[in-house]
Amino acid sequence: MISKINELTEAINQADLSSEEKLEQFRLRYLARKGEIQSLFKQIGQLDENERAEAGRRMNQLKALAEEKFEQAKEELKSSSDQDISALEDISLPVEPTYAGSLHPLTRTQNEMKEIFLRLGFDVAHGPEVEDDFHNFTALNFPPDHPARDMQDTFFVRKSEKGHHDDLVLRTHTSPVQIRLMKETPPPIRSVIPGRVYRNEAVTAKSYFQFSQMEGLYVDRKVTMGELIETLVRFARLMYGSDVEYRVRPSFFPFTEPSIEMDIWWDSDRGGQWLEILGAGMVDPNVFEAVGLDPEVTTGFAFGMGVDRIAMLRYGIDDIRTLYENDIRLLNQFSD
Ligand code: PHE
Repeated sequence: MISKINELTEAINQADLSSEEKLEQFRLRYLARKGEIQSLFKQIGQLDENERAEAGRRMNQLKALAEEKFEQAKEELKSSSDQDISALEDISLPVEPTYAGSLHPLTRTQNEMKEIFLRLGFDVAHGPEVEDDFHNFTALNFPPDHPARDMQDTFFVRKSEKGHHDDLVLRTHTSPVQIRLMKETPPPIRSVIPGRVYRNEAVTAKSYFQFSQMEGLYVDRKVTMGELIETLVRFARLMYGSDVEYRVRPSFFPFTEPSIEMDIWWDSDRGGQWLEILGAGMVDPNVFEAVGLDPEVTTGFAFGMGVDRIAMLRYGIDDIRTLYENDIRLLNQFSD
């Protein structure tokens, strides 16, 4: 009898009561009227008188132990399920944030630029990113083997046996779309052309092998340099505010004559500096000839803006690589 009691004590101490189901099994097995403890109690009567007192005392202990374990486990199960319910019901708990997608700073900048030019009377056109040599260079007055081609380190997609003319390149600028537009549409033309361009350049904080430009082309009769500069200054004021500081410098491009560049003053934590945002100029007569327009009567201006630079200035980003790493901590700053 005593050894049976010891056995049961051991079993009760080790019972796993971690679920409602196990708790119920425990109750049926030990505590119910037909359970093991009650049936042991019934056997006490059959014991010798000298054993009875001891066995009774041990049996009462055993019963108390089983009841205590049962009550305790029941309490624990109840309070943990209470917690589950209250967690579900507590509508004041903070909600896990969900992040909606947002426009990339480059896309935003490009959109703002497009809006400005739409207001100034331009439409929006597009062209291919893989270009042939003719559109990317030759028609833009870069003669074959001319050192001006070195201004733009080029990724070649296909080198042709037949010579430069049939080479395929990743476009090094958006200017080839000028050629496409002039070949397709008779003047007047007033378009901006946003898009990606590629150059085989060393990656630094200021330059990347892929970036974005927005080309502008205005072709009509009697277009003047004054109109070009007026257009660029209006753009700068609408983009950066009327107190923007800018300067226009003479420059060189094979496809414009005369050529200029425009800088914007950037006041950053590390001190101020001029940042070049675009190249521009009056369309060179050789370009008009290449597309079959009469340079005696046709005039025009063109510009090519660096969208990345304009975005960096706009948002105070001082490393161009930031725009291509897609770090979520940067992108989240642009969700609205
Ligand atoms: N295509 C030139 C560049 O990428 C910029 C430019 C465009 C200059 C149009 C003049 C006119 O550097």
